[in-house]
Amino acid sequence: MAILITGGAGYIGSHTCVELLNAGKEIVVLDNYSNSSPEVNARVKEITGKDFETVECDIRDEKGLHEVFSKYDIDSVIHFAGLKAVGESCQKPLEYYENNIGGTVNLLKVMAAHNVKTIVFSSSATVYGEKNVAPFHEEMEVGGTTNPYGTTKLYIETILQDLWKSDNEWSVSILRYFNPIGAHSSGRIGESPNGIPNNLMPYISQVAVGKREKLSVFGDDYETEDGTGVRDYIHVVDLALGHVVALERAMKINACEVFNLGTGKGVSVLELVHAFEEATGVKVPYVIAPRRPGDIATSYSDASKAERVLGWKATRNAFDACRDTWNWQKNNPDGYSV
Ligand code: NAD
Ligand code: UD1
Repeated sequence: MAILITGGAGYIGSHTCVELLNAGKEIVVLDNYSNSSPEVNARVKEITGKDFETVECDIRDEKGLHEVFSKYDIDSVIHFAGLKAVGESCQKPLEYYENNIGGTVNLLKVMAAHNVKTIVFSSSATVYGEKNVAPFHEEMEVGGTTNPYGTTKLYIETILQDLWKSDNEWSVSILRYFNPIGAHSSGRIGESPNGIPNNLMPYISQVAVGKREKLSVFGDDYETEDGTGVRDYIHVVDLALGHVVALERAMKINACEVFNLGTGKGVSVLELVHAFEEATGVKVPYVIAPRRPGDIATSYSDASKAERVLGWKATRNAFDACRDTWNWQKNNPDGYSV
């Protein structure tokens, strides 16, 4: 029996593949490579010393998905595939709704047709919206997302909950990620953004490697200790391990459950810059710039449910993530394109 990993060649998917293979699971990776490269699969095989099947397919391609479910003995799905750029989602909302929501509905229909009813889904802390106050916990009312990307996550959560209500044989695990950063300690896989990075950590590491001149710190007048935005940065390997235990639980019980995957600790922009400098010995020049529209001051998780129910907790800190990001960035300055 194998686990189908949609978007398995992406940043979080590839790290999860490594941890699933290390845990002795069989996987099939499905990706359309719209934001990744088949080279990733080769590197996952190299890191783990294990082989697995890969399929180039789009989750919107119903016929293609039927073929995959007919060909392989799949008993569960971890669903990462989706578009994730917040700014782009405001320019091209229909592409985001079609790819993320349309693609997910298609996947769920094909799963049901093949009687595969276990799914782990990549959601985001963005569903907590602007009104809730950190620490965010799973019982809080979600909504009030500020961009189409966030809204796709909110709607997909609702679709999965409705599906489970209609048929309790489904087992659904919704994972709300906080801010994933870091890379595998081998330095062979990591985050490889296209163009100018929107997110803080890839921007810091591109400044450090000399690809960008300086970091703009978006606002130093928030109501936080040093005035800069506070986030819950979770090491991608901890996040990957969270998927292994979430899937194991989903295979055992038929429920629809939501888990925050975060560290439970907030770190400011300047604290992350300093952690990076300390971990790598490389200076990160920065300037204070205006606030970025849509940003909130503080976001961090209450991660106690994942610890209580899944027995999972993050064990790596921001320092570890900075060290591993740098190891990846300096060895792969242009990501997978070299
Ligand atoms: P990523 O872009 O690196 O990975 C997504 C993968 O899905 C890519 O390999 C891409 O080629 C593939 N893909 C996209 N559309 C597809 C389609 N229609 N059919 C098949 N494959 C498709 O992103 P990531 O950072 O690894 O994120 C993985 C998931 O986690 C996404 O759903 C994302 O929204 C979610 N998430 C990410 C973050 C984050 O900060 N990285 C935070 C919260 C949630
Ligand atoms: C962003 C997304 C969110 C997504 C999350 C995934 C936005 C508005 N939100 O959240 O939907 O789920 O990524 O990780 O894009 N910062 C700088 N300079 C930079 C970049 C960022 O100061 O060049 C600051 C931001 O103001 C923020 C912090 O760094 O305080 C983190 O930013 P980022 O990495 O973009 O993540 P989020 O804003 O939390």
